[in-house]
Amino acid sequence: MTPTHVLVTGGAGFIGSHVSRALLARGAAVTVLDNLSVGTAAAVAPGARLVTGDVRDRAAVAEALHDVDAVVHLAAQVTIRGSFERFYDDLDTTRMGTANLVRTLDPARVRWFTLASSMAVYADAPSAAPITEAHATQPLSPYGVGKLAAEQVCGQMLAHLGVPLTVLRFFNTFGPGQTYTPYVGVITIFLTKLLRGESPVIFGDGEQARDFVHVDDITAGVLGSLGRAEGTFNLGSGRGTSLNALAGLLTDQVAPAATVLREAERPGELRFSVADIRAAREAFGYRPTRTLERDLGGVVDDIRARLSAPPETPPHPR
Ligand SMILES: NC(=O)c1ccc[n+]([C@@H]2O[C@H](COP(=O)([O-])OP(=O)(O)OC[C@H]3O[C@@H](n4cnc5c(N)ncnc54)[C@H](O)[C@@H]3O)[C@@H](O)[C@H]2O)c1
Repeated sequence: MTPTHVLVTGGAGFIGSHVSRALLARGAAVTVLDNLSVGTAAAVAPGARLVTGDVRDRAAVAEALHDVDAVVHLAAQVTIRGSFERFYDDLDTTRMGTANLVRTLDPARVRWFTLASSMAVYADAPSAAPITEAHATQPLSPYGVGKLAAEQVCGQMLAHLGVPLTVLRFFNTFGPGQTYTPYVGVITIFLTKLLRGESPVIFGDGEQARDFVHVDDITAGVLGSLGRAEGTFNLGSGRGTSLNALAGLLTDQVAPAATVLREAERPGELRFSVADIRAAREAFGYRPTRTLERDLGGVVDDIRARLSAPPETPPHPR
């Protein structure tokens, strides 16, 4: 099916604002449901209808679902470390917010559901070799527990309702427009600190490997699978980068004299998290085109512009 009107939950946030803009550019109507706890009304794509509300609120969800034929569900509290401090809220938003969406949608009208999941559902990998979707799930954080539960709620109930489902497990997403908080998005955090003349911190020995994928590639994956590919897919770049290598790359680009601090490892973090992306390539032609080395420029410019604007405070203590 080709969706004509898509509900993007979390559409005022980082990935949601990119996805909304791309859907509008493709000619679909977009409604955004966001409680603006992290996202801002200013980030909502021009032309999208904004319903300000919580995914756990049935009336807000019903209003947002009006006339919609597909859902891209991105709203969540996006923090692994913060999910230990705010585990109740995290689980409530991800698990019950998802269940609320599923119970409220009309399966005769909504003909596709895409759920944003995460690499945080996986068990740690033994090495930096890419892992497939068949890798064991054993979340190390409340955030990952919530995402796995949301996958299971959707898998079971949407099959029962006859609504096709795509589960997309995003890996570490970077790009312009990510809200700066101390916890989310290591590239945004490092660059913000470096551009402020502060020292970024690596937790642990820095040899943990991550898969950094550009938000444009994630957006292409969301749109490429929407209405087309049912199933569960990793969306990453397919390449691993250690945090030590990342820190070297970022300091070289913006502050070669900066020092990088080291602190003890934090709970909940996977040591090795690199996506095997062959399933997405085969199912819907997913081919990331952006790279860490080439495409940091836009992120640096975005953060510089935000730092020269009036001071930004994190929207809530994540
Ligand atoms: N950024 C990444 O590296 C990454 C990696 C894996 C998975 N994901 C997933 O992708 C999705 C989007 O993440 P993002 O990076 O854009 O984060 P984000 O924080 O920028 O966006 C999430 C949006 O959801 C909204 N929100 C939070 N709780 C809500 C609630 N109860 N009701 C309504 N809206 C609510 C926030 O205001 C925010 O605008 C999330 O589901 C996240 O778990 C992101």
